[in-house]
Amino acid sequence: MDWGMKNRMSRIINPKTGHTVMLAVDHGYFQGPTTGLRKPGETIAPLVSYADAVMITRGVLRTSVDTGISKPIVLRVSGGTSVLKEDLSNEGITTSMKEAIRLNASAVALSIFVGAPNERQTLLSLSELVNQGEEYGIPVLAVTAVGREMVRDTRYLGLATRIAAELGAHMVKTYYCEDFEKVVEGCPVPIVIAGGKKIPEPDALKLAYNAVQAGAMGVDMGRNIFQSETPAAMIQAVRSIVQENYTPDEALELLKSLKSQEK
Ligand code: 5RP
Repeated sequence: MDWGMKNRMSRIINPKTGHTVMLAVDHGYFQGPTTGLRKPGETIAPLVSYADAVMITRGVLRTSVDTGISKPIVLRVSGGTSVLKEDLSNEGITTSMKEAIRLNASAVALSIFVGAPNERQTLLSLSELVNQGEEYGIPVLAVTAVGREMVRDTRYLGLATRIAAELGAHMVKTYYCEDFEKVVEGCPVPIVIAGGKKIPEPDALKLAYNAVQAGAMGVDMGRNIFQSETPAAMIQAVRSIVQENYTPDEALELLKSLKSQEK
């Protein structure tokens, strides 16, 4: 890894803790105006200061995020399908590396769909993106998107994360599952977990805790933060687990006390 690539990685993953809290707000790229993100600018602004990085598309970045932002951008550069389609795997690269650099992205992100009809296309897109990333010193985050029919277990997530790493991804985003340490063991690059659908806050905090305990470098969390009644309190509670070693109970206490201030 050259200096530029390492420097960008260290902007995303805090070198002191080896952990990161990425705020995922890229959902609109296939879901449209997602609950909690209908007005992305209003959602993102109060949360940015608590995140280590923001995962976002170029369209929302350009229109809805202040250019003075100091947090690294993980730019979602894959797309091409919508929730209206049965098969979500028909994705390609949507944003050039030149554009990512112009937008001062610290990393680019693309989904792969292992086991889905367009598996090959998405794996070759990842490889192509890694080739471009290596040329310009831009790390690539591979997102192991899970098709409706895929089981989220160590076998499947282990397969998808390992393939992403083998093809050269510098970081991988996946879902938490039981025995998650086996997924981490088999993947030689840092892993972050997505939060998935909104679940009760204590459960989301446990999810973040369990993932970090199992060796994840942190979270790339969206809905469980921005669909919370008190998103700023929730991201701070998640942060306390990922960056400050809080237990889920301690984080819940923090959440309760912050909630009373935020409401
Ligand atoms: C979609 C994504 C989203 O960023 C992702 O799902 C993370 O957000 P959430 O915590 O809401 O699951 O990569 O493929």
